[in-house]
Amino acid sequence: MTYIIANGYDFNHDIYELVRTFYPDEEIQNIEDIDTYNKGNLLTISLIENEYGFICITKLYFDDVLISENTENLNDIFINRSWEKTINVGVKKSIFKTLIKVTDKKFPWGILTGIRPTKIVHELIEKNTPIEIINEILVNQYMLSDEKARLLIEIAKRQSKYLYPIDKSKYSLYIGIPFCPTRCIYCSFPAVPIKRCSKIVDSYIDNLMYEIKNIKYFMKDKTINTVYIGGGTPTSISVDQLKRIIAGVYKNFGYDNIKEFTVEAGRPDTLNYDMLKMFKEMRINRISINPQSMNDKTLRLIGRDHKASDIVDSFNMAKEIGIENINMDLIVGLPGEGLKEVENTLKIIGQLSPENLTVHTLSIKRGSNVKNNLDLYKLEEQKVIENMLTAISDFTKKNNYKPYYLYRQKNILGNFENIGYSKEGLECIYNISIMEEKETIIAAGVGSTSKIYYPEENRLERIFNFRDINEYINRIDVVIDRKRKLLLDT
Ligand SMILES: C[S@@+](CC[C@H](N)C(=O)[O-])C[C@H]1O[C@@H](n2cnc3c(N)ncnc32)[C@H](O)[C@@H]1O
Ligand code: SF4
Repeated sequence: MTYIIANGYDFNHDIYELVRTFYPDEEIQNIEDIDTYNKGNLLTISLIENEYGFICITKLYFDDVLISENTENLNDIFINRSWEKTINVGVKKSIFKTLIKVTDKKFPWGILTGIRPTKIVHELIEKNTPIEIINEILVNQYMLSDEKARLLIEIAKRQSKYLYPIDKSKYSLYIGIPFCPTRCIYCSFPAVPIKRCSKIVDSYIDNLMYEIKNIKYFMKDKTINTVYIGGGTPTSISVDQLKRIIAGVYKNFGYDNIKEFTVEAGRPDTLNYDMLKMFKEMRINRISINPQSMNDKTLRLIGRDHKASDIVDSFNMAKEIGIENINMDLIVGLPGEGLKEVENTLKIIGQLSPENLTVHTLSIKRGSNVKNNLDLYKLEEQKVIENMLTAISDFTKKNNYKPYYLYRQKNILGNFENIGYSKEGLECIYNISIMEEKETIIAAGVGSTSKIYYPEENRLERIFNFRDINEYINRIDVVIDRKRKLLLDT
């Protein structure tokens, strides 16, 4: 157990998350009374105002013995953001410096605990902060490694042409299809095996079409930019059912303004010639065929009912049919995988040469089979994960893939990140949009979240859809009313 006492400063989620990166397997408890502590770690954080300004003094005790401490002068913190954020950074920096002294682990993300670290870089770019100063802020204030700071700046620069100037009149559309062939052991997405609910697919699509028709009405003064059909695995429904959804999009929003139309076709066991041919005919210009791993043993273990050779066959078929942009998702840190397995995956990916490659690090998600049965799976340590990620980073450099979006997740192995790579100029606009949150995304279907962006205030409002299919079908008017209230009535 790690106890935290904060004086002069409210204990907040940010502090909790930062301490958790150091002690991922321990319970962390904020206490007000020192008597609650008897043994284990105790972290005391004191924010004090004196004649010169604010200082933060942090001390770490183990079994009552002081083992590390730090004093941070908050006047020295420069992040070119509000005073409130500056204080938060000063306090986190003080905690970080205290904890880093007593561990031999590396923390390349420094004090950053958020999901979207590139947003900080964009905020600084928008304030015309010179790149050298941004780098200095990332390394010296947020305590990032030189490598992560460079990576964030590189990605933010690459994204800029898609984000600026901000166009208030544009929005993107997301459609969620919550069905999959089988459930993968690491997954916590709202998706159910298709066999269990094939009878309700048509009814689900009827409701989806009704929601989309309403979205068209709510967004009548704006122009559609990109469309993304995700899930789940949209290709687990039939060719005709999926075609009906795509046709519904065109009927409501037309063809001409849609710059990019992605369908996640993740699992090769859901793909055949008819499905891929339909995509080509329906002008789908980007799909995902996701290996996760190219090792049959791993595919079996993670619950994907197909072989690596099926992925290769589907990819080749899609290319022959003429699908322009194919993405492939990988996961690093899957149970039983080390450097040798990743090298095999990369060898095959190198031969296929997809336009996009998205590299995730395994995250142990609540509700997933891995999380519920942790003792059954062999997971690698930070050092091994780091070696695998380095192999991937070397591969992308050698094969001309450029990083174009990045995000972090909770409970990600080794505290690493997910990175989307692309061949030059073939970046997925929707992925940048969802990550950087500078465009409205209207989402239809189960488990989806709409994000309405107000550029004048740089603010987002979220609208949530139900996560349960039957609830979505039975209460579709509630779903639509939530959208109407925010999009029409305000
Ligand atoms: C929304 S999922 C759906 C993709 C598609 N259904 C498939 O499985 O191929 C998008 C991607 O997130 C990644 N992912 C899902 N769960 C993950 C986890 N627990 N840790 C790391 N990556 C994960 C996988 O690479 C997956 O392809
Ligand atoms: S990872 Fe993809 S295919 Fe597997 S259960 Fe999750 S959404 Fe379905």
